[in-house]
Amino acid sequence: MQFTYYGHSCFAVNVGGKKLLFDPFISANSLAQHIDIQSIRADYILVSHGHGDHIADVVAIADNTGATVIGAFEVVNWLANKGVKKTHGMNFGSYGFDFGRLSFVPAWHSSSMPDGSYGGNPGGFVVVSADGNFYYSGDTALMMDMQLIPHYAQLDFAVLPIGGNFTMDATDAVKAAGFIKCDKIVGVHYNTFPPVVVDVNKVKDIFKMADKELVLPAIGEQVDL
Ligand code: NI
Ligand code: MN
Repeated sequence: MQFTYYGHSCFAVNVGGKKLLFDPFISANSLAQHIDIQSIRADYILVSHGHGDHIADVVAIADNTGATVIGAFEVVNWLANKGVKKTHGMNFGSYGFDFGRLSFVPAWHSSSMPDGSYGGNPGGFVVVSADGNFYYSGDTALMMDMQLIPHYAQLDFAVLPIGGNFTMDATDAVKAAGFIKCDKIVGVHYNTFPPVVVDVNKVKDIFKMADKELVLPAIGEQVDL
C-alpha cells in the first residue's frame, strides 16, 4: 500500500483504487509548510476526532477534492455546517465502502470541536481491503481494547502516536503493537509542538529493543507498506 506522510497525524493511504486521507492538519503545522494543501488529492477524508490538530484542513481539502468525509456522526455534522458537502457519519461499528471494510473503533482520549461544541467519542480506524489491512489508532492512551483489533484483521501495518503527553509515547506504542499483533508501526503525533517533542534516537532504540519495525517517513515522503 502506498503511504504518504503529511506531518503530525496526517497521512494518506491508497487502497482499492481510492486515496484515503487521515486527520488533515497541514497549513497550521510549522513543520509542514512545504506541503501545499491545494496539491493533495483525496477520495475520502477520515477524521479520528474533533480536535483542531486533526481537522484544521478538512473543509479546504474536501472543497478542493470533493472527498467524502468519514468520522463520528457529531464531527461530520459539525463539518457539514462548515461547508463540507459529502459526509458519512459513523459511531463505533463497521461499514462496507467501495475501497474496503472500515471499522470505527474506540480510542481513550477526548473529542470536542474547535468552538467547544460536542465532538462525540474519539476513535480510530481499521481498514480491511483487497490491497491489505491497517489500523490507525487516532489519539489514544494505551488501552486493553486494542486486544480486539486482531479480531477485525491481520494487520500489514499500524499508525500509532509516539509523542506522549496527549497520547501514547514510544514505550506504550510498543506495548500496543503487541496488543494489535502488528510488528510494523508508523509513528505519528510527535515533534509538532513542545509537549510532544521526542528524542527520535531514543524512540528508535525502544522499538529496536522490542524487535518491532518503526517507520518514520519525512513530511511529504511516500513509502510502500
Ligand atoms: Ni486530540
Ligand atoms: Mn492530537
